Amino acid sequence: MFDFLAEAQKYFTYTRDMRRDFHLHPELGHQEIRTAGIVARELQALGLEVSTGVGKTGVVAMIEGSQPGPTLLLRADMDALPILEQTGAEYASQNPGVMHACGHDGHTAILLTVAKMLHGIRAELPGSIKLVFQPAEEGQGGAEGMLADGVLDNPKVDITLGLHLWNEMPVGSFALAAGPTMAGTEIFKVRVSGKGGHGAIPHLAVDPILAGAQIVSALQSIVSRNVAPLQSAVVTVTTFHAGEAFNVIPPHVDLTGTIRTFDLDVREMVLRRFDEIVNGVAAGMGCTAQIEHVRMTPALINDAKTTKIAQGVAARIFPDSPVTTSGPITMGGEDFAFMMEKVPGLFMFVGSANAEKGLNYGHHHPKFDIDEESLPRAAALFAATAVELLNR
Ligand code: NI
Repeated sequence: MFDFLAEAQKYFTYTRDMRRDFHLHPELGHQEIRTAGIVARELQALGLEVSTGVGKTGVVAMIEGSQPGPTLLLRADMDALPILEQTGAEYASQNPGVMHACGHDGHTAILLTVAKMLHGIRAELPGSIKLVFQPAEEGQGGAEGMLADGVLDNPKVDITLGLHLWNEMPVGSFALAAGPTMAGTEIFKVRVSGKGGHGAIPHLAVDPILAGAQIVSALQSIVSRNVAPLQSAVVTVTTFHAGEAFNVIPPHVDLTGTIRTFDLDVREMVLRRFDEIVNGVAAGMGCTAQIEHVRMTPALINDAKTTKIAQGVAARIFPDSPVTTSGPITMGGEDFAFMMEKVPGLFMFVGSANAEKGLNYGHHHPKFDIDEESLPRAAALFAATAVELLNR
């Protein structure tokens, strides 16, 4: 049988050098011009037909197998974060204030490596592989942009597959978890309006600060009293802005924050209770409230059958590696969930931390860095799972 790990190890220098090059030159969401250019160049060098500018700065290419079969979408994200890098690495960002602090540099290098590996054995593959290099994952609508540009059509995608290097797990471990794996994420914005007035004459005003404070407290009852104890949700108020002067009751208070859920029924209930509490408490305090909800990402839910196949692949390639098989993995969000919501599939987590080498800072930390030994492991798992899925 084809030895995917040995093959991925052969490409180690290529993968690492690509990753370091992207790390040196990070680009924010929808500005991945240089990165997308390198991706397109590398794919064209394989003889692939490449579409650029998909969802603004995304890149798509197809690898055709030799027989008919399913179409599998493999996705990597390319964008960096607005963070000033403090790793001191020799390949640290040369673009001050922009940093690959989530591992997307690695994801792009891994998928380029997978493209080489799968292109090399395309004569033995059924179906086709759609390589998707996505921009702007960090909350700027990258996946939605590619969906709007028809990334799931022509040819129609049957299965979706993606991965994340994960610094909350040591290198050598994996998480291939069926079911809800990453949280659905929402932003809320609330304006509570009362009636401004003199701080010393409160009875002639309607104080929105008092109402806002009661609302923040009352919102805590959703998770503690409405969500079933064995289910999970987060309701967090992260900003509270009001007033300018010590002796003035302001006319309104602005609150923002985030809601995280896994289950669609829980999500609906939390949103309903949120509105009831905000409107009800505001009214009880003589105020009115305006509420705006923005859905950032749906919950990421891994398809059970696809996950099982990948677990089998991992057990074969990495017989000694620990594999987490049930989620959730994180309350963080991931916009690949928008694609997986339309076409079921799997999002895999590849352990990338190494505490002994100091490579265990969390994602989005200015000292975030990965153990590069995770790169060939990720490429091997990605390519082998793809082949297994095509052959099923
Ligand atoms: Ni990420």
